[in-house]
Amino acid sequence: MKILNLGGGGFIGAHLTQRLLAENQTVVCIDTHPDKIREHLDHHRLTYIERDIRREDFELDRLIQEADLVIDLIAYANPGIYVKMPLEVFRLNFTENLKIAETCSQYGKRLIQFSSCEVYGKTVAKSFPDKLMNSEDPALAIFSEDTSDSILGPVSKHRWIYASAKLLLERVLHAYGLEDRLDYTIIRPFNFIGPKIDYLPEDTDGMPRVFSHFMEALIKGTQIRLVDGGAHRRCYTYIDDAIECIYRIVENHGRVCSRQIFNIGSPDNEVSIRQMAAMMVDLYKTHFYKPGAPLPKTVDVTSEDFYGPGYEDSDRRIPDISKAKTLLGWKPEFQLKDMLIRTMEYYLSDYDGKIQN
Ligand code: UGA
Repeated sequence: MKILNLGGGGFIGAHLTQRLLAENQTVVCIDTHPDKIREHLDHHRLTYIERDIRREDFELDRLIQEADLVIDLIAYANPGIYVKMPLEVFRLNFTENLKIAETCSQYGKRLIQFSSCEVYGKTVAKSFPDKLMNSEDPALAIFSEDTSDSILGPVSKHRWIYASAKLLLERVLHAYGLEDRLDYTIIRPFNFIGPKIDYLPEDTDGMPRVFSHFMEALIKGTQIRLVDGGAHRRCYTYIDDAIECIYRIVENHGRVCSRQIFNIGSPDNEVSIRQMAAMMVDLYKTHFYKPGAPLPKTVDVTSEDFYGPGYEDSDRRIPDISKAKTLLGWKPEFQLKDMLIRTMEYYLSDYDGKIQN
């Protein structure tokens, strides 16, 4: 198959590019930076085109016409960006992505569209903390693709522009499906983690996701900052598990994925951000610490101080993965501790020289 991998140089995209090549697929990868796929650039079945899809001269039409399958991973996906550049988040994550879906519909191409677990928003427990008998009941935080409601925060909390854009895009794809004009599959990733997840804050504009913030604090012995007490919970999913599931969606045996939405996540790996910080410190001390190096101090910060105004968080989200289990025969294998060690190892091997200095 010739697969157009839009955003194939990002975290998920790079791991997927590697798997697609290993499966003898032909890949055309579009991204703005080749860093994470550098080791594959000479591969004879990979064409890498460095291009921002927002550019006027981007040849979307031709690329989609020539592909057998289109995978769209292009998006801003770091909460810091939703708060700082909400309009650009809407433009890239909705307007530009919509063009991709429309073009796939025009040429009858199958589309795998990456969405987000953020579309589920907050739990009822967060919205009505005093009205529930047991706000800790995990059932309140288990989200299913085809039946769960979405609870997004008010307009003034502009972080939700990301979830709104993703949700609207999902709904447009679904409407295309209803009119029999698009063969699509939507994927909602639940906090994938692994090597190459993000750059460390020092290497970027300071906007990565939580793992990289904590990793940098461990490397430099600076502060681990817990936003709003680190009380919010996530279910972390190792990238290898995720890629296995995504590849089954690419294969689409028996067309079971057509016009379906899939959660991809590890429900058993739920952890609060405070617990994850403590776990990373413990693992670091046990496996990687070099005597004499500074250790980080954990401090609480408000979300307003950390992100600026307009931030609000998903408090808890546990994926219901019964659909992926039933239709794809997939289930995640990696435990949180194991995935943290593997990911930390990757970042530390990069920084080893610097740590010793
Ligand atoms: C982000 C994206 O918004 C999702 O679309 C995406 O699916 C998800 O990452 C993902 O990785 O799959 P989120 O989990 O909120 O969602 O992203 P993080 O920036 O990693 O934040 C996780 C939690 O850690 C939040 O509660 C945040 O406030 C907190 N945090 C972040 C800290 O306590 N300290 C930090 O230094 C950074």
